[in-house]
Amino acid sequence: MSDVKLVVRGVSKTFGSNGGCVRALEGVDLEVRDGEFVALLGPSGCGKTTLLRLVAGLDVPTEGEIVLDGKPVAGPGVDRGLVSQEYGLFPWLSVWGNIDFGLRLNDVPEEWRFKVVGDFVRLTGLSGFEDAYPSELSGGMKQRVALARTMVNDPEILLLDEPFGALDTQTRSLMQELLLDVWENKKKTVLLVTHDIEEAIFLADTVYVATSKPCSIKAKIKVNLPRPRTFSMKSSKKFIELRKSLHELIREESLKAMQPITNKAKKPLRSPTKRMTFSGFIKTTIYDIVIPR
Ligand SMILES: Nc1ncnc2c1ncn2[C@@H]1O[C@H](COP(=O)(O)OP(=O)(O)O)[C@@H](O)[C@H]1O
Ligand SMILES: [Mg+2]
Repeated sequence: MSDVKLVVRGVSKTFGSNGGCVRALEGVDLEVRDGEFVALLGPSGCGKTTLLRLVAGLDVPTEGEIVLDGKPVAGPGVDRGLVSQEYGLFPWLSVWGNIDFGLRLNDVPEEWRFKVVGDFVRLTGLSGFEDAYPSELSGGMKQRVALARTMVNDPEILLLDEPFGALDTQTRSLMQELLLDVWENKKKTVLLVTHDIEEAIFLADTVYVATSKPCSIKAKIKVNLPRPRTFSMKSSKKFIELRKSLHELIREESLKAMQPITNKAKKPLRSPTKRMTFSGFIKTTIYDIVIPR
């Protein structure tokens, strides 16, 4: 029996507008197995949020299909929990009220709500802050509330859209460890999108590397680091090797993504005779644009 939870098959997406069309996704194929932590890694603007919105059922593909637990995705549903950078907390509700919101809406019996919300408050390190309001919380705490609020509804798959992107490096790193604790405790299936190479390696079992826009899958990489993952693994040989290969793949795509603004440049981006640094590339780009011909 197959244990595949989510299948994205040949998915393309074109946005139409008065000014023309934007092709955001081009034949994306990926799958997430039950209980697996998958990361889609790609440069900014490549189409990651677009893909996650399609999986969440907030928009529809132009071509291809998305299947969750054997059923085609045809709209939003409680089987998918989406967490994004913007937290999306209700400012008029306390931490407890925010986490409890979905359960209350679904008429879950009070005794059960009390147990589940309490469980997630503890798991996300929010004990003592149950009565605080979002305006009184740091970014990291808000994101913990957002995570808990989504997870109490026990979705089949957790969709994470650069959830720690707005946080400082230290908080981000701690949040990654907290997310792994929660994931290991609850055995959830996760699809995370990120542009952060280290984040993808540290968290995921499998990393799909996306091309620049339109997004398609360039590589599928198994992260063979043991679990549970620990902070010290980030300096292990295996981690550093993986980071290096992913960095190469992503750099190629980031350079491609910058090409439209360099279309007057005569030189190739990568000269075989001269190694060009990234800052050198930027300088060359500006030079080629501003010098009159
Ligand atoms: N609703 C929309 N209408 C038109 N273009 C869109 C829309 N949503 C996203 N795009 C375009 O699709 C591309 C991919 O965007 P997005 O999925 O947000 O990228 P990422 O999340 O990887 O940064 C961008 O060029 C963006 O401008
Ligand atoms: Mg995005």
